[in-house]
Amino acid sequence: MNESIVFFDTTLRDGEQSPGATLSSAEKLEIARQLARLGVDVIEAGFPAASPDDLAAVQRIAQEVGTEHGPIICGLARAVDGDIRTCWEGVRDAAKPRIHTFLGTSEIHLRYQTGINQEEALHRIRESVSLARSLCEDVEFSPMDAGRTDPAFLVQVCALAVECGATTLNIPDTVGYVTPQEWEALIANLIAETPGAGPGSGIVWSVHCHNDLGLATANTLAGVMGGARQVEVTINGIGERAGNTSLEEVAMALKTRPQFYNLQCNIQTREITKTSRLVSNYTGLHVQANKAIVGQNAFAHEAGIHQDGVLKESSTYEIMTPESVGLSQSRLVLGKHSGRHALRVRLNELGYSLAGDALNQVFARFKTLADAKKNITDADLVALMADEFHGPEEIFSLGDVQVSCGTMGLPTATVKLLDRQGNTFIHASVGAGPVDAAYQAIDAIIQAPNTLIEYSVHSVTEGIDALGEVTVRIKAEHPADEARYFGGYGADSDIVVSSVKAYLAAVNRMITAMGYGDQKPEGQAATVKLANS
Ligand code: KIV
Ligand code: ZN
Repeated sequence: MNESIVFFDTTLRDGEQSPGATLSSAEKLEIARQLARLGVDVIEAGFPAASPDDLAAVQRIAQEVGTEHGPIICGLARAVDGDIRTCWEGVRDAAKPRIHTFLGTSEIHLRYQTGINQEEALHRIRESVSLARSLCEDVEFSPMDAGRTDPAFLVQVCALAVECGATTLNIPDTVGYVTPQEWEALIANLIAETPGAGPGSGIVWSVHCHNDLGLATANTLAGVMGGARQVEVTINGIGERAGNTSLEEVAMALKTRPQFYNLQCNIQTREITKTSRLVSNYTGLHVQANKAIVGQNAFAHEAGIHQDGVLKESSTYEIMTPESVGLSQSRLVLGKHSGRHALRVRLNELGYSLAGDALNQVFARFKTLADAKKNITDADLVALMADEFHGPEEIFSLGDVQVSCGTMGLPTATVKLLDRQGNTFIHASVGAGPVDAAYQAIDAIIQAPNTLIEYSVHSVTEGIDALGEVTVRIKAEHPADEARYFGGYGADSDIVVSSVKAYLAAVNRMITAMGYGDQKPEGQAATVKLANS
């Protein structure tokens, strides 16, 4: 086995295009660091021309993660002069920078999106790829909507891109339209027919598939069978509409079926679960329970006959071990008598190195949890770390929350929030249930209009004393702005508390991104302020 597959991760670019997945610069940087630990070869860090914030985030990732031994840092640019130059500003500080430029080449895209003909498209490709190559040694070109582009024109486009200096040719199925058989044949044909880009030319062929028909992983692997040696993927398969190909599915297919694919890759599969949770927590995009590799049920055996088989011999129903994707099976890890040292050692084994104040902070949370819950498992510790450290900037933080609910009387919640100036706000509200009441109290204090789009709660482990993880998505409704979506995550043994934390995280993200920070919109002071020091 000597050939390798290049893993090009676009979680921070195509993935961030999922509705509700807006990430702050600090969150992008942390995800990029984790992607480097996961072993991805290329990080597409963003679309620098999209906004000054996007440019700044790409620059920071280039400087801090794009080190000599780190991954290639790539930025996306439309095939226009300004985008390409801004993209170069974004990635130039990386030890290994890449410019990725693209243009729609299908008849539909040419006619309805860019309004140009094939000849003009070829002219644009010549100009843009040549400009990119004059700035950067490593240039990727994508003929967008290749899956619906005339194959003969596609050969012409790819040959021109190579002639002008492209080093990677990425073939996107932008709308998730193709079938695996068609895709394998198309890629094999392009490699055979494109002058200057065949085997031995040094050109890397890549595939980028969307999941509209649920075929993204199958198509990506078919592309690999056709000769592609770079795969463009995202963590948890997040991305536009139904998403992109999921990194963990392709990586585990290659690792689980080595005799079939006979290809290696640099992915450290034991980092998969941690990366998946980090991305899910930051984006607020919850992973469905039956999602391959990273879903909560991916390694759970429910049917009696399956349980019986797995207990006798795990390979009866398991084609890969939970440990191979970093899902620890250890049941009893720590308890209320465990000390700071034991916690530090266990966290270290899980990949978190903590000391000083950070360790003290987590130890205090651990002790509180251990009082409420007898056995603290690895899954509890990972959730606790996510809750403690993986959040947006706290414009408002939670002081206290108290609810009263049940069959008698109205569900009521009293919430105390603190702002960054140390002011305290208390509000009591009634609602349809305790969580609704708490959310109404937060809304009354913060006055940042939004609609709750999605709320999900699930337990981290089994048992009545389990930690409850809550993920929410909200839609901002500020009159001056178009609708935008934000996610939040919270974990606690009390699900009302996790619910409040998740909602507050989403609201903090919203007010940071939409610029009304801790100054409430004009004329909308908190309706009830019981205390304000
Ligand atoms: O789906 C797509 O075509 C893309 C390109 C920009 C590569 O994301
Ligand atoms: Zn895409």
